Amino acid sequence: EKAGYRHFMAKEIAEQPVVLADALREAGRDGTLSLAADLDFRDVDRLTLVACGTAYYACVVAKYWFEQVARLPVDVDIASEFRYRDPPLSPKSWAIFVSQSGETADTLAALRHAREQVARIVAVVNVPTSSIAREADAVLPIRAGVEVGVASTKAFTCQLATLLLMALKAGQDRGVLTAEQVAAHRADLAALPGLMNHALRLAEPIALLAEDLAEAQDILFLGRGAMYPLALEGALKLKEISYIHAEGYASGELKHGPIALIDARVPVIVMAPRDALFEKTVSNMQEVMARHGKVLLISDARGVAEAGAGCWRCLTLPEVPDLLAPILYAIPAQLLAYHTAVAKGTDVDQPRNLAKSVTVE
Ligand code: M6R
Repeated sequence: EKAGYRHFMAKEIAEQPVVLADALREAGRDGTLSLAADLDFRDVDRLTLVACGTAYYACVVAKYWFEQVARLPVDVDIASEFRYRDPPLSPKSWAIFVSQSGETADTLAALRHAREQVARIVAVVNVPTSSIAREADAVLPIRAGVEVGVASTKAFTCQLATLLLMALKAGQDRGVLTAEQVAAHRADLAALPGLMNHALRLAEPIALLAEDLAEAQDILFLGRGAMYPLALEGALKLKEISYIHAEGYASGELKHGPIALIDARVPVIVMAPRDALFEKTVSNMQEVMARHGKVLLISDARGVAEAGAGCWRCLTLPEVPDLLAPILYAIPAQLLAYHTAVAKGTDVDQPRNLAKSVTVE
């Protein structure tokens, strides 16, 4: 059932273009793509997105999207914090719970905590028969198919796609986006699986440089804007399966502390498409290089041409519309974690101390 792959994780990374294309097609068929009139964002004053782990990082990306395309205020919370903090919630707000399994104990408890306080409880899940789906008012399936590897990969990109569709619907309902703009973004999304296929070709160069990464004690990931949560996700994925200590930082935070860690032994992975924030990120990258940090730049051809000089290594992705960059850049983050873990010889699909579904607090 690994279809010739050495690990489920490798299979699940590789199948993302097909899985996402199928998920979008299905969503088009049953109306989820347009979220129908059923999810009408006109009277919503705020969203609270709650999840754990990788699903939480999908929520952080979604915050950037909802704010940008729908001008809708968004709070994002880790479920284990949300459930005990008792934050004041607006009765006109919606709470959205994101979970691959739909069984994560903290996320389910957070949902129950929000139940009487908000206008609507929405579940974004991979398992539509799960507890979280059953207890929600509305369920959006991400349609990633069964995910076996403990490290979440295709569920992350499908969560992102589903949350982006929601943000676009919110943008249209709230009059921030025209129907034409929404259609253009959807067309971009339909073209994304093709770009993901290109991104998967990085597996070979990544497998080579992973031999070096496997020697590191600490690895930093940097990103700005919606690439910041990708830096967090890249670090989580890497530590989870390779057991190398890794941290994700917002690039601008570098000089507020973590730069003290930089020396020639610390690889710094910079995720930076050539977007409006590129130059800012490059200047943070140069601060790292000035301290002999080993920079791995992940960008597109323009970005690599402009800023690749002096980097330890560069990885080139195809150009991608800004809004979709977090989904595409997930692939090299996953491949880096996977190949580093393989180089270290860890149990990739069943890393120590971890369970696929965390059903206890
Ligand atoms: O099933 P869930 O999406 O609720 O799970 C949440 C986290 O436990 C999960 O994403 C975890 O962080 C993954 N192992 C990360 O790869």
